[in-house]
Amino acid sequence: MRALVVGPGAEGRFAEVPEPAPGPGQALVEVRHASVNFSDLRHIGRLPEGTVLGYDAAGVVLRAAEDGTGPREGARVAAFGAGAWAERAAFDTGSMAVVPEGVDLVRAAALPMAGLTALRSLRAAGPGPGSRVLVTGASGAVGRLAVQLAGRAGAHVIASVSRPERAARLAAGLGAPERAARPAAGLAAPADIVVGLDGVEPVDVAIETVGGPALVAAWALLKPGGNLQSVGWACGQPAVFPPNSTFSLGPARSLNSFGDVTAPADDLAHLLALVAAGELSVDIGLNSSWEDLEDVKAAQLGGSLTGKIVLTVGRTL
Ligand SMILES: NC(=O)c1ccc[n+]([C@@H]2O[C@H](COP(=O)([O-])OP(=O)(O)OC[C@H]3O[C@@H](n4cnc5c(N)ncnc54)[C@H](OP(=O)(O)O)[C@@H]3O)[C@@H](O)[C@H]2O)c1
Repeated sequence: MRALVVGPGAEGRFAEVPEPAPGPGQALVEVRHASVNFSDLRHIGRLPEGTVLGYDAAGVVLRAAEDGTGPREGARVAAFGAGAWAERAAFDTGSMAVVPEGVDLVRAAALPMAGLTALRSLRAAGPGPGSRVLVTGASGAVGRLAVQLAGRAGAHVIASVSRPERAARLAAGLGAPERAARPAAGLAAPADIVVGLDGVEPVDVAIETVGGPALVAAWALLKPGGNLQSVGWACGQPAVFPPNSTFSLGPARSLNSFGDVTAPADDLAHLLALVAAGELSVDIGLNSSWEDLEDVKAAQLGGSLTGKIVLTVGRTL
């Protein structure tokens, strides 16, 4: 079968690879769409040559798991796991969920890594109703979902973006039709969308996806007892903390790394249900054939694209 793999020059390229051999707790999935996460192409050189790329997929179960767990044959599923950019992939049934009616497989494919990260980093930080939650990189895939989920939990959300045009798109997107159509359905509370972090009042929780100076600034905004989830480092710059900036009197502030991807099936099902109910919107910035990987990479690195990139998998002719 065909798959996109790490090539000899750390580029993504097509290869014929062996059919997956699912273990007892794995289902075989025909991948219809796969999404591109922040690191898939940027950090491709960290993976051994020949590794099948990608982590997020949506498709149809070709063969249910032997141990009887997970979705039945023919079910439409979203899945999280290494090796997603292939015509077929074996996924742990503990890492997949049935896609509800009304949710297309493009949006389903966009959800696993970003959605699970947003949901679980918020859960780890544990903001209560009325807590002030800062989300940096709020126009990004993780950030945009975290803004909505924090709002649903009753937090006062401060959504930080880098540029005014990002703020406009985020504001427009969060007023998406599915929200307007369901005004009373526990929708995200309005977020304060801010460009940069100057002038932001102290917060209880920070979901920090940008790293570098944004991490330093977000840390400085934490109230005593507050928690910062260091989710990502999209800017690639070092973080330079001023002397004594980690010292403060009173209840301790904490900074946690985030990387919890274990057994995501239930959380993935929850996220898909929110999308189906119109309570969570996924921004698709580009939906392209996987044949166009070079164009996709250029679009991602070009800096003007926002929203998830989703690849349509399979021969297009
Ligand atoms: N810990 C985990 O398990 C986990 C899981 C998923 C993602 N992540 C990490 O979280 C971060 C965000 O992921 P994502 O999927 O939300 O990515 P994304 O959709 O590409 O969004 C990236 C965000 O970072 C901002 N950004 C600031 N400086 C940037 C720069 N120099 N280059 C690119 N973006 C920059 C962008 O804002 P502007 O467009 O406004 O500049 C954008 O909001 C990444 O570092 C990713 O590796 C971690």
